[in-house]
Amino acid sequence: MILVTGGAGYIGSHINKELNKQGYETVVIDNLSYGHEDFVKWGALERVDLSNSREIRKVFQNYPIDAVMHFAAFTYVGESVEDPQKYYLNNLRNTLNLLEVMLEFEVKKLVFSSTCATYGDPLEIPITEDHPQNPISPYGRGKFMVEQVLRDYSQAYGLKYASLRYFNAAGADPDGELGESHQPETHLIPLILDAALGRREDIKIFGTDYPTPDGTCIRDYIHVTDLADAHIKALEYLENSGKSEVFNLGNGNGFSVREVIEEARKVTGRKITAVETDRRPGDPPILIGSSKKAREILKWEPKFDDLSQIISTAWEWHKNLKKYE
Ligand code: UFG
Repeated sequence: MILVTGGAGYIGSHINKELNKQGYETVVIDNLSYGHEDFVKWGALERVDLSNSREIRKVFQNYPIDAVMHFAAFTYVGESVEDPQKYYLNNLRNTLNLLEVMLEFEVKKLVFSSTCATYGDPLEIPITEDHPQNPISPYGRGKFMVEQVLRDYSQAYGLKYASLRYFNAAGADPDGELGESHQPETHLIPLILDAALGRREDIKIFGTDYPTPDGTCIRDYIHVTDLADAHIKALEYLENSGKSEVFNLGNGNGFSVREVIEEARKVTGRKITAVETDRRPGDPPILIGSSKKAREILKWEPKFDDLSQIISTAWEWHKNLKKYE
């Protein structure tokens, strides 16, 4: 049985679905602070906060857990600068709590949700896994610290882990059962779709003077279902006694903010008003990842690798998103 922490959130819920589709049994733990209870349509759900080791222990006592996928984390980069303690307690300390219980119960396989934010401002594009890690926000630093902890625990206690560094997770479940619904929403694609639906007046373009061909930031958008597939491949890799590894997960293609807006106009057929504004502090001009390693070692191949598919799955979900408004 696989324990999925944060399985009621955007990425965790998609992976929980995929695990169940592929015949794994799962138990989700989520404190539902940001997650949605009705995203957990598969497996068991335990409303547990990872700050409470006693509650984590109970879950390990009650379910025959073989491996853990750890998604539970706060993810607002800007907020992490304003309130770093919130991020270090939740993303770092609570991960230590989880690891402590895993070791107690001799559960030694972990797939960890890491991020390209651990690299900081890139020195080279595309970013490979051996690019120096100089995170520039408490969010990125917390994830980076967990990666270091995992390396030490793997050497000392035989923990086997795969740290997956995502680029920009986007899109929605192609069956329309799950999607992206953050509160507050800060991510580009859902905000553009809100503008397309008239739920907001416009989409603000944060900065038009970046050193990129059209002056706006470039990102590597990776479909959440492709992320799910990579997680299962990483788990199989650990089960087949692969050694602990880190993998980037991205498409290797970059799209500018203007290109994403233009593609969304095509996909939705709606008018989307874009308003140019100042840069958002902390946004690197270009983030594009090389996922050569995941392709070679995990035999992972993204399937939803064009922007139009990413936006159209998000659109199908977003159109029907009433109850989270
Ligand atoms: N953007 C806008 N207008 C908006 C929102 C975003 O122009 O209203 C731009 C941003 O400036 C950025 C791009 O769109 O250039 C993508 O922004 P997102 O907020 O969607 O995503 P980020 O690249 O900031 O963040 C993502 C993940 C984080 C992760 C980070 C790593 O969501 O969890 O990548 O840098 F930490």
